[in-house]
Amino acid sequence: MTIPQHIAIIMDGNGRWAKAKGMPRNYGHAQGSKTVERICEDAYRMGIKYLTVYAFSTENWSRPKDEVEALMKLLRGYMKTCLKTAEKNDMKIRVIGDISRLDEDIRNRIQELEEATKNNGGLNFQIAINYGSRDELVRSVRRLAADVQDRKLFPNEIDEACVESYLDTYGIPDPELLIRTSGEQRLSNYLLWQLAYTEFYFTDVLWPDFTKEELVKAIEYFNSRDRRFGGVKEEQNV
Ligand code: IPE
Ligand code: IPE
Ligand code: MG
Repeated sequence: MTIPQHIAIIMDGNGRWAKAKGMPRNYGHAQGSKTVERICEDAYRMGIKYLTVYAFSTENWSRPKDEVEALMKLLRGYMKTCLKTAEKNDMKIRVIGDISRLDEDIRNRIQELEEATKNNGGLNFQIAINYGSRDELVRSVRRLAADVQDRKLFPNEIDEACVESYLDTYGIPDPELLIRTSGEQRLSNYLLWQLAYTEFYFTDVLWPDFTKEELVKAIEYFNSRDRRFGGVKEEQNV
C-alpha cells in the first residue's frame, strides 16, 4: 500500500459526539484531543512524514465564549503533553495560522515547542490554530506587497513558488490526502491553495471515535484513486 507523505485532517464532530452521550460539548473536545495524540503515534508508525490538523479556525472565535475558553484551555494542556509525545514520535511541531491573537502564555508555549522539536526528523506535525486559508492569503499578500514596495521583489518575478514562500506552510509539500470526519463535506477555509490536487476522503465517524483502522481505510481509498497529478508517491509498508 502506498502511504501518502502528507495527510491533512479536518477533525470534526466533537460536539455531536458529546451530545450523543448526553455530555457537554467540551467533553467532546477533551476526547478529541486524546484522539490527536493517538493518531500522531499511528501516523508516525505508519511512516507518514507530514500530518496537518485543523485545531481552531478563524471562524471558531464566533462560538460561545465558554466554548472558546475551554478550547484555549485544552490547547494549553495539549502543548504540555505534546512535548512528551514529540519525543516519543520524533515529532517536529509547527503551528500554522495567525498566533498573534492568542494569549501570550500560549504563544510562548508554541514557541518553546517549535524550538524544542526543530531538529526532530520523524513526523512533521503541523497544528492549525487561528487558521483560515483566506486570512493566510491576506497575510501573505501583505508581506509580499511590502517586499515589492521595498524593491526586494519585482512583480514579474512573482510565480507560484514565490507565492508559496509567503504561505504559513512554506517548505511543506502539499497534502496528497485530506480527511474530514463527521459527515460534513466542505473545506471550512482550510488550506485552499495547498489542496489544489489533493484527494478528499469523507467519513461519518466523529473525530473522538477516529482510530488507526479509520486512517487505514482513508489510505486504502487514496490507493484506489488514479492519481495523475500532485507529486510523486513513495512506496512504504504499513
Ligand atoms: C470540531 O468539532 C472541533 C473544533 C471545531 C474545535 P466541533 O466542535 O465542530 O463538533 P460539531 O461539528 O459541533 O459536532
Ligand atoms: C472546522 O470545523 C474547523 C476545525 C475543525 C477546527 P467546524 O465544525 O468549525 O466547521 P464549520 O464551521 O462547521 O464549517
Ligand atoms: Mg463542527
